[in-house]
Amino acid sequence: MKIRVYLLALVVINSCFDIMAQTNSKDLDTKIESILSQLTLEEKVAMCHAQSKFSTPGVARLGIPEIWMSDGPHGVRGEINWDKWGYAGWTNDFATAFPALTCLAATFNPERSEEYGIAVGEEARYRRKDVLLGPGVNIYRTPLNGRNFEYMGEDPFLASKMVVPYIQGVQQNGVAACLKHYVLNNQEVWRNKVNVKVSERALYEIYLPAFKAGVQEGKVWSVMGAYNKYKGQYCCHNEILLNKILKNDWQFDGVVITDWGGATNTREAALYGLDMEMGSHSDGLTVSADYAYDYYYLANPYLELLKTGEVPISTVDDKVRRILRLMFRTTMNPDRGLGRMNNREHLDVARKIGTEGIVLLKNEDFFPIDPNKELTLAIIGENATKALTPGGGSSELKAKDEVSPLRGIKERFKNAKIIHAMGYNSGPPQYGKVIPPKYNNDSLKTAAVAAAKKADLVLFIGGLNKNHYQDCEGGDRLDYGLPFGQDELLDAVVKANPNTGMVLISGNAVEMPWVDKVKGIMQAWFLGSQSGHAIADVVSGDVNPSGKLPFTFPVKLEDNAAHYYGEISYPGVDYEQEYKEDILVGYRWHDTRKIKPQFAFGHGLSYTEFQLFNAEINSKNFEKGDAITISCSITNTANMAGAEVVQVYVGKNKSKVPRAVKELKGFQKVYLEPGETEDISIDIKIEDLAYYDESISDWNLEEGSYTVYVGNASDNISRTFKIRVK
Ligand code: BGC
Repeated sequence: MKIRVYLLALVVINSCFDIMAQTNSKDLDTKIESILSQLTLEEKVAMCHAQSKFSTPGVARLGIPEIWMSDGPHGVRGEINWDKWGYAGWTNDFATAFPALTCLAATFNPERSEEYGIAVGEEARYRRKDVLLGPGVNIYRTPLNGRNFEYMGEDPFLASKMVVPYIQGVQQNGVAACLKHYVLNNQEVWRNKVNVKVSERALYEIYLPAFKAGVQEGKVWSVMGAYNKYKGQYCCHNEILLNKILKNDWQFDGVVITDWGGATNTREAALYGLDMEMGSHSDGLTVSADYAYDYYYLANPYLELLKTGEVPISTVDDKVRRILRLMFRTTMNPDRGLGRMNNREHLDVARKIGTEGIVLLKNEDFFPIDPNKELTLAIIGENATKALTPGGGSSELKAKDEVSPLRGIKERFKNAKIIHAMGYNSGPPQYGKVIPPKYNNDSLKTAAVAAAKKADLVLFIGGLNKNHYQDCEGGDRLDYGLPFGQDELLDAVVKANPNTGMVLISGNAVEMPWVDKVKGIMQAWFLGSQSGHAIADVVSGDVNPSGKLPFTFPVKLEDNAAHYYGEISYPGVDYEQEYKEDILVGYRWHDTRKIKPQFAFGHGLSYTEFQLFNAEINSKNFEKGDAITISCSITNTANMAGAEVVQVYVGKNKSKVPRAVKELKGFQKVYLEPGETEDISIDIKIEDLAYYDESISDWNLEEGSYTVYVGNASDNISRTFKIRVK
């Protein structure tokens, strides 16, 4: 018997090697079937659930390897213990922290996205991870969502264009990206319970497109289900979302992984599209127990249902086929590279993306600050020195080195006298808890005002941080305003020295009662390892800012669509929530309802000036199958090299259904030397103007007149065209 098993194992191992050597030449499905036929039912079930916090078992008997995963999405997370939450205390698990995905989205540059993906994928590979848990493309619906910083903003088109190269970049390393959190996980409050009621139209037009692009264009190899419910069923095993839309309509051939602890029912998990269960707490697994993982929904309870015939064997076969396919793409792919980590190139990528994503919101001759001048520069604010790669929940990172803004500025502004005052302080980040700060904010304020008085110029570096109830998983922000008394502090600082500019570090919009009082505002996101250098690059003018807002900054919270409709719309009542604003998310709402935002989607200033001219359209009449081509010229009319993002929006005039005034349908970033002109053209498929028609459960291209808007921000349109679609 022993000899037979050994021989069988040998055959499989040999065939695995054989397979590995020829992954491209032979039909993958045949290989998968040949392995599948040699697995016992127990082995198959074992592959469908975790064996530790971040891994699933292979089949040791046959030489089939384990799958190792890591968060994501901004770098490779520090090593977690085998069985319980908490860091394993390794000393070799430092990583490059890349800018948050909000920053990446703000670059409006898919090339940066590809570089990001390649670099973070290389780090994952080097750390021997097979699945990187990211990117996230949940839509920015409310500025209170604690996890917005991990996502790509409020616009489905922008998120779709940015997510695809990230996925392709990661996966070219033989590491799977895991697109998350599918879907409607747009808040952290009640994320484990809330049942989201959203129209089919808003689902298809707003919340699904970036996932669809990730699956169909990015060819992502794994998708993570969300914690929340849709139509009363948990998203991690949801018949409509997973079986119908993802696997049937979109033909996703990869693995659906739960969010950690997102499975809640064995039968549903077996039948409704889930392939792999991770991190459940259902049986007290937060502490280690013998064979604890056997109690997962997709472990012994599943085996039981399979054996009694309550769910068909075909369910497990389908899951295992997908898991094996993932293995052939990752851990059993002999051609994948070895990866790299913490190298100069990755830091450069992080810095480049950081500088390119920073958005200059307002500038009254304040930025750039000349680094050669002998100034006294007061740097005020806790974010000038606070480490922001730790904290924030699962995306937190153990950066090899995190350059703080203060350090970055000190290194660049060698001629300046720099005085630093913390101004306010918050406690250290801790998941699910607010730890009180160490110092008294009143005395910090007094010191800050004194520093401001002594300075020629004040740079306030504040915003949110990664503490609980800030930009952090597991809870939403409690207020739209700045925390820790920063509004009052800013007031006092500006009174002491009106020559004050703000560097806002956050992943979210904030209320700005001080907007008219400060001379400049720079939106700097969570920028990772190279944060301080990236900020200094833009503050000093070494890099001309070219980021654009990937979401709207409302003046006040009630101006945001989700909040306009009250509690039922956010956060819900008794765990039931209705997305009452429907398709009017973000700028779609502000434009349509004529609610002027503080800063609009797509907005972002430069140190130079651009002129957009000669805008033309290829035709005035279009039919199905046609493409609209907008061409224009753009000149850098001032004296600094820089980049501008040409944005094209389209809106339907008089529609059968409610429509947004306009929606982003194309964009292009253009780099120009001083005086340089470039001619560009942007294509839009006419089909992309269709709306999702619930009466036919399909896309419907309405005939009639549309307006095409060309500009450099959703609220700065320089040319419009009327067109007709037949
Ligand atoms: C988060 C996921 C993350 C997972 C593993 C969950 O709490 O929602 O985004 O990938 O934990 O850390």
